[in-house]
Amino acid sequence: MNFYVLTLFPEMITDTVSHSITGRAIEKNLINVEAINIRDFAGNKHGQVDDYPYGGGAGMVMQPGPVYRSYKSIEEKIGKKPRVVYMTPQGKTFNQNMAKEFAKEEDLVFLCGHYEGIDERVLEMIVTDNVSIGDYVLTGGELPSLVMIDAISRLVPGVLNNDASAETESFSDNLLEYPQYTRPNEFEGKKVPPILLSGDHAKVDKWRREQSIIRTYERRPDLLEKAELNKDDKKTIMSLKKQ
Ligand code: ADE
Repeated sequence: MNFYVLTLFPEMITDTVSHSITGRAIEKNLINVEAINIRDFAGNKHGQVDDYPYGGGAGMVMQPGPVYRSYKSIEEKIGKKPRVVYMTPQGKTFNQNMAKEFAKEEDLVFLCGHYEGIDERVLEMIVTDNVSIGDYVLTGGELPSLVMIDAISRLVPGVLNNDASAETESFSDNLLEYPQYTRPNEFEGKKVPPILLSGDHAKVDKWRREQSIIRTYERRPDLLEKAELNKDDKKTIMSLKKQ
């Protein structure tokens, strides 16, 4: 999968994705992350890419020309019109289902704004998806696009060592993950739940499912409405409600 990031701060992107799981995925050619510097398409000696807003007001606005030309360079390179995600607090809030949808694309372009935003005309021309990563305002679209690249990359086959883990983790089935433990089996007087040392896989699975239900009920009850629950799950919830 190819990610193209249109940005004024390309190092923010390349430096970050080079680490950990995304870094290894790049080395294994499972994903490719290219940061395109919008300033390279300024078209003037000074590399100016922003100007004062028409109508007045605070701050600067990114001009349409450099953004458009940087986008066109990708379109020409890949020979088709890719989806273009504009990172903006005005977008649809990113979630796991959107990550799954985007993971089906072969090429994905992220457009990162800075200053007071980008000239509306070029957004109308190239953007296919407006996406926010939450109801707060950041200084630019780089961190949001990194968040999306991370969440999407781990769904690309082969990126996680263990293919099962992409699916069993939090949110994939609208349940939170059960708690995990490792050695030592006693830490500061606190013991690992004995069932995990029993070697009885069926019992362990049942306990973990129950823990997922309890956690989701306590921490994110809103998710439970969307989860597929079996008889045992419903029993667990009933007993939680009685407490
Ligand atoms: N740019 C600034 N704030 C943002 C947010 N919350 N999500 C996506 N892009 C943004």
